[in-house]
This record gives sequence, structure tokens and C-alpha cells, in this order.
Amino acid sequence: MGENELLEVLREQGQEHIFEAYSKLDEAGKEKLAAQVEKIDWSIVAMAGHEELKQERGKLEPLSALEVTEIEENKEKYEQIGLDAIKKGKIGAVLLAGGQGTRLGSDGPKGKYNIGITKDVYIFERLIRNLTDVTDKAGCFVPLYIMTSDKNHDETTAFFEEKNYFGYPKDFVKFFKQEMAPSVDFNGKLYMESADSLSLSPNGNGGWFYSMAVSGVLQDVKARGIEWLNIFAVDNVLQRIADPVFVGATLDSGCVSGAKVVRKADPNEKVGVLCLEDGKPSIVEYYEMTEEIINSREENGELSYNFGVILNYLFRVDKLESIMNEKMPVHVVEKKIPYINEKGEYIKPETPNGYKFELLVLDMIHLLDDCLSFEVVRDYEFAPIKNKTGVDSVESAQALLKKNGVEL
Ligand code: UTP
Repeated sequence: MGENELLEVLREQGQEHIFEAYSKLDEAGKEKLAAQVEKIDWSIVAMAGHEELKQERGKLEPLSALEVTEIEENKEKYEQIGLDAIKKGKIGAVLLAGGQGTRLGSDGPKGKYNIGITKDVYIFERLIRNLTDVTDKAGCFVPLYIMTSDKNHDETTAFFEEKNYFGYPKDFVKFFKQEMAPSVDFNGKLYMESADSLSLSPNGNGGWFYSMAVSGVLQDVKARGIEWLNIFAVDNVLQRIADPVFVGATLDSGCVSGAKVVRKADPNEKVGVLCLEDGKPSIVEYYEMTEEIINSREENGELSYNFGVILNYLFRVDKLESIMNEKMPVHVVEKKIPYINEKGEYIKPETPNGYKFELLVLDMIHLLDDCLSFEVVRDYEFAPIKNKTGVDSVESAQALLKKNGVEL
């Protein structure tokens, strides 16, 4: 983008302060900043502070789940189908590790966090162990794709190298970086994080497939003949990865996607619930539901909207390709955004000072025709680490790991 064009765009968008910063830079700095501005999707930035631009929800209806009792009855059958698909190389796994883990308050990649008590146990290590439980059974390896971001890529890859991939074969692990998005103050003005850079942060976990495509790792997926991708979060240390029973049940169902869900602890639990919206699968957050919907019950007394997602999904690759360029809703989130002020001082705010823009993987489900809702037992499969202490913390995850016989 030429200088005049840059000025024009920034003026049009009410972001002249960025041009002022640009004017003070040397050629290399100018090129860097202009390239960042060029990548901005202004329609997203325009959403800052505009609640009215949020999409209205459609008509919600319950979606029944394949429940634990039924899964148990057919476990052998599902497991066989799943293991067969794994052995044929049809299943790949995608670890979403591009987040910044701000609530945990550790600056590095969350997966580097040591949750051991008497010995070192890193989150990444725990996840690899969970995966090898399956690959040992299948007698072959599952390709693992790890999404990082500009903020943690080098540290993540160096850590895997240092730890020799925790014994997993390096040929089966590929890293790719997600896209970055700008941050703005409460008036929609772009923040800068250094003299020659906008404040950029990972654009949420919803752009993972697009990033696989633009980074080139999708070619590896295709070359290997992978037909399904199991995506999962870095922070659930009880995560079952490429779980043959889940894979088998989803394949057997004929659905193009599957989601692991847990029974809600109580009607008001703050989880995204898998249901139908205008006849298509959808994940609706607790704050988007009316009291009536939250408390609605089926004839058997069970909650109608009873199953929360745990960020473990299975997607058919050809379907992901067909929806890749569809617009996904952008979530505008208030965050603490470090920035440089007019004096060039670096400020790390104590309270939220602006908005970040995020795409969320849960919104992908609604772009698909169907999704198998697959119930798992919370205490065996869900130990998320979001906070240092209290709910969903290192402590609660340690307790659950111990309950599942994991030595820490
Ligand atoms: P969270 O929504 O818990 O976000 O991510 P986070 O960044 O890890 O933590 P906080 O909110 O800052 O405390 C759920 C999963 O999505 C991944 C995370 O790494 C985690 O596995 N994620 C999140 C990404 O891969 N990229 C993102 O931009 C955001």
C-alpha cells in the first residue's frame, strides 16, 4: 500500500493517529506498519462498542444427545469403527494452542505450564500421553497439528524440541500459526504496542481451519488422506484425543461433525449448550438464553437444554473446506490491552481498556448440517485449567487427574 493510499484509508477510518506514528518511522518500520494496516478487516473494527450489530439468535430447539448409557451399550462397536478409521489414517488431531491464557496469568504458552506436584508434568506432556493411550491401542500414530500464534510460536516449538516431543514421533507433529487481529480502545481507535506495530492479538480459536489452509498444513492433511479432524483445547488435561469411541459413534451416525458434551451441573451453569437453531446445530451461550429456555424440561424431567460443550469436536474435512470462506460472527470482547501511549511509554493496564475481536470455533457448528452430540462423563474427561486457583484451576485439574489415577 502506497503512502497516499494508507493515509486515505486511515483518515476514512478515523485512525489518523496511526499515520502520525507511521510518519516517524524509518523505511523498514513504515513497511511493517503499512502491511499490518493493509490486513485489517475494517468491518470488524467498526463493530467495537456496537451491541446492535450483534446477530440475533434464531428459533432454538433441543437437540438430543447420544447419552452415556447408550454409548456404553454400543461401545465395542463404536470403538472398532473408530480404531479402524485411525488405522486407515483417516483421523488427524488439531491442538488449539494459540491463546494467551491471560486468566492463568503466565506469559508463555499455556501448554508449558507445569502442573506436577512431586515431579514435572507439563500440560503439553499430559496431552501427548492422552493421545498415546489411543495410538498404543491402534498400533499407529495420529498426525497432530498444533496451532500457535505470533505470540507463542517460537516458545512452543522450542519447548517441543527441548522435550523431544515427549516421545511422540516428530514426523507426525506439525505447527501452524493462526491469524492476528487488531485491538482498539473503547472509542474504536487502534492501539499500538510498539513504535512500529499495532497491538495485535490472536484472532480467537475459530479461524483454525482457515489458518491451516493459508499456512499450507492443509496440504499435509490432504496428502495423508485424513478425512476427519478432531480439534481440542490445550487446557483440558483430561482431554481424550482421537477417542475411538467418539470417532466411531460420529462415523456411525452419518453426521458431518460431532461434539463432546457434558451434562449440565445445574440449569444455570455457565456453559455453551449444544442445541438446534433454526433447524441447524448450534451452540448457544447461557447469557443468550431466556429463563424459560434455561429451565425448560422434557417429559422425563430432564432439562431440555442439558448438554454443554467442552471444546472437543470432530469435523469432516471436505465439509470444513466447503464452509471455509463463509463469514463467521465476530465476538467483540472487553480485555486488558497493553499499549504505548503518546509519550511512547508501554502501559500494562490493570482493568479492561478496550476491545479485541475473536472468532470462535463453536460458531462453526452452525455452518454445518448436523452434529452428533456425544455425552461424556465430566469427571473422566473434563479438567480445564483456566485460572490459577478456584473453579477450573490448576488445583481442580490436579484433583481430577489424581481421581483418574494420574501421578503428579
Ligand atoms: P480460551 O477461550 O480459554 O482462551 O481458549 P485463552 O486465550 O486460552 O485464555 P484466556 O481467556 O486468555 O484466559 C480456549 C482454547 O482456544 C485456544 C486456547 O489456546 C485454548 O486451547 N485459543 C484461544 C486459540 O488457539 N487461539 C485464540 O486466539 C484463542
